[in-house]
Amino acid sequence: MKIKKIKAFEVLDSRGTPTIAAFIELKDGTREFGFVPSGASTGSREAIEKRDNGKNFNGKGVEKVIKFAEENLFPELLDKEFKDQKNFDERLISLDGTKNKERFGANIILATSLAFCKLSSTILKKPLYKHIHDYFLENFYKETQMKMPLPMMNILNGGAHANNNLDFQEFMIQPVGFSSFKEGLICGVEIFNVLKNTLNEKGFSTAVGDEGGFAPGISSAEEALDLITSAVEAAGYEINKDITFALDCASTELLKNTKYSFSNAKKLSSDELIEYLSQLNKNYPITSIEDGLDENDWDGWRKMTEKLGKLTQLVGDDLFVTNQDILQEGIDKKVANSVLIKINQIGTLTETFETIRLAYENNYKCVISHRSGETEDSFIADLAVGTGAGQIKTGAPSRSDRTSKYNRLLMIDAFENLKYLGRGELKN
Ligand code: PGA
Ligand code: ZN
Repeated sequence: MKIKKIKAFEVLDSRGTPTIAAFIELKDGTREFGFVPSGASTGSREAIEKRDNGKNFNGKGVEKVIKFAEENLFPELLDKEFKDQKNFDERLISLDGTKNKERFGANIILATSLAFCKLSSTILKKPLYKHIHDYFLENFYKETQMKMPLPMMNILNGGAHANNNLDFQEFMIQPVGFSSFKEGLICGVEIFNVLKNTLNEKGFSTAVGDEGGFAPGISSAEEALDLITSAVEAAGYEINKDITFALDCASTELLKNTKYSFSNAKKLSSDELIEYLSQLNKNYPITSIEDGLDENDWDGWRKMTEKLGKLTQLVGDDLFVTNQDILQEGIDKKVANSVLIKINQIGTLTETFETIRLAYENNYKCVISHRSGETEDSFIADLAVGTGAGQIKTGAPSRSDRTSKYNRLLMIDAFENLKYLGRGELKN
């Protein structure tokens, strides 16, 4: 069916920063929206998030970005028919014509790409996750099975997402010991609520950071992990059996000159940080470490993978930026064993699918992820189920920008009654 209209709007993300919503309308009036999220601790090789750099919103407005696309991108798509997502995204990519989407901006391109995906699911009369699944299976990876993702719930926030001195950015729990998504989620929510009491009793603030997790005035990773351990026990759950821990160190943010700098003045070399992470991994039930090292520290990453890759999941976020070519480099160099998937790091859904497929073909795990600046859109919940990624990172069970994804997953689960895998069974 031919596209009649495409329009974009400046809307707000969960930090009150402008972002983009775009809709596509067909000749018969069918219309769907796509929203884009936005990161704070971004990788330097991410596709370009274009902003106006004008007076509005401290330079972060996107009205000029939208106007430019409405004059130069959208008219090229009108009155045209596109066979499928790939066909549409390839047109967006070629109209932009740059390697990192700097002409129009990955933000407006992604909003349009997502709107197209939703529109396709509407036309085909399939729920979004089902449409994504069928399309991904048919065009990208034949063995894909829909499944409920194991959540990584970020219950203590630090780094660029909070104004405390906690150096690592995210302290997460993974409810690994449950037979359904709902049971796992309930466990995570109960621990989150008990953690609030624990913090309260100890005189810490229970204000939350950007991803809905608490942001108490603590500074060491051990303190954070001990607090979570006591909350897990007080909630009546068993460490390791029911719950394991996951970290996002976001170490690119810690590297100053040649050393990783911590708030207690500790400065670690790459080797020393690997040693420190390996100690943490020994002392706590950590099953996933994201961005343990800086995005350019590939020698360090190789060593870390050699040392820890068999013991724990090592996720590349800023390292791979959801980019197929960079992931391929990682596979060739035996770096990491998992990739974080953030749709706006690469800017179209098709390229996201390509990166997921490459990961699957090489036994790298995929974690579908939100950004710290989110919207109410729950697209990534459907993406996680549809691609059968097995894991999702979407913050604490707090604030609507985060719970919208959990709620969508609860609804999908209620309809489909899908498999939910614990850590040991995670396979792509
Ligand atoms: P960001 O953080 O969205 O601010 O980049 C999320 C992450 O690092 O995983
Ligand atoms: Zn990260």
